[in-house]
Amino acid sequence: MKTLSTFLAGTELAPLIADIAESCKQLAAEINRGALHGKMGSLDATNVQGETQKQLDVIANDIWLQVNEQGGHYAGMASEEMEAPYLVPERYRQSGKYLLLFDPLDGSSNVDLNFTVGSIFSILISPNHAPALEDFLQPGSSQIAAGYALYGSSTMLVLTTGQGVNGFTLDETSGDFVLTHPDMRIPQDTSEFAINMSRQRLWEAPVKRYIDECLQGKDGPRGKDFNMRWVASMVAEVHRILIRGGVFMYPIDDGLRAQGGRLRLMYEANPMAMLVEQAGGAASAGLERILDIRPEALHQRVPVFLGSSREIERIILMHRTP
Ligand code: AHG
Ligand code: MN
Ligand code: MN
Repeated sequence: MKTLSTFLAGTELAPLIADIAESCKQLAAEINRGALHGKMGSLDATNVQGETQKQLDVIANDIWLQVNEQGGHYAGMASEEMEAPYLVPERYRQSGKYLLLFDPLDGSSNVDLNFTVGSIFSILISPNHAPALEDFLQPGSSQIAAGYALYGSSTMLVLTTGQGVNGFTLDETSGDFVLTHPDMRIPQDTSEFAINMSRQRLWEAPVKRYIDECLQGKDGPRGKDFNMRWVASMVAEVHRILIRGGVFMYPIDDGLRAQGGRLRLMYEANPMAMLVEQAGGAASAGLERILDIRPEALHQRVPVFLGSSREIERIILMHRTP
């Protein structure tokens, strides 16, 4: 079976993705040891977004920084866990042509539960050898690669370099990521949605109407019953959608208005939007394609609707018609 390194052999991104695979392996080992090493708790600290940091959020961030800066490919990095962009030290920056943006541990509220968590990443070309904040603020359509690692019942790396989406499973015996999910495609239609229903009273009218029609099932305007899932880990949600279709929504609502949404554009929404589009699905902020958004801040948040294309079209239409 084909491994990640044979799959990418000879391509410009091969060494970058090899380093990312290594950071995923190291982090998977930490997560796998679970409570055994006593690093599962919360820290007495909050990150730049005012969220309580878990010990593993910080460990994950350190692993990603350390493993990826050494390769010499990056001029700078940015992460959910760091307020400002990280300038790669000069000794590693010689050939630094790229920028790496990442959410080192996604779904970290699941970590003490032994549920699925992940890492999300996005690669951009660096306009400068010593990049400033503005150099990171590129639209998602400029990403040259994106993907996620999923630390679930098996560890997987799901990747796009702009030519479809491929999934690799970590073979613990050989240490290789093996191509187990070639050319992942999202079915156009679905009868499964994912949304945090506890926020229903806060939603905007288009979202209320879309979900209401789904909930009416066979006897409603959709003429079919819908199923619902909510893992509270975007990586797990997107993975399910890449495997069997569905829609995932984290809309803006009355409680999230001031901050612009829940999920972060640069290292959550953009990489996931690229993956979903590359697999034949769609990703929208309601009215605007996520990948077209011109970012204004590193930790900017955005409403997210992504998944099976015909269903996303319906959600966009509801946003257009008052
Ligand atoms: P993170 O752990 O990186 O902060 O991200 C969690 C995100 C996303 O993965 C998930 O879809 C969502 O937050 C869960 O939100 P709720 O807590 O509202 O369920
Ligand atoms: Mn996240
Ligand atoms: Mn995170």
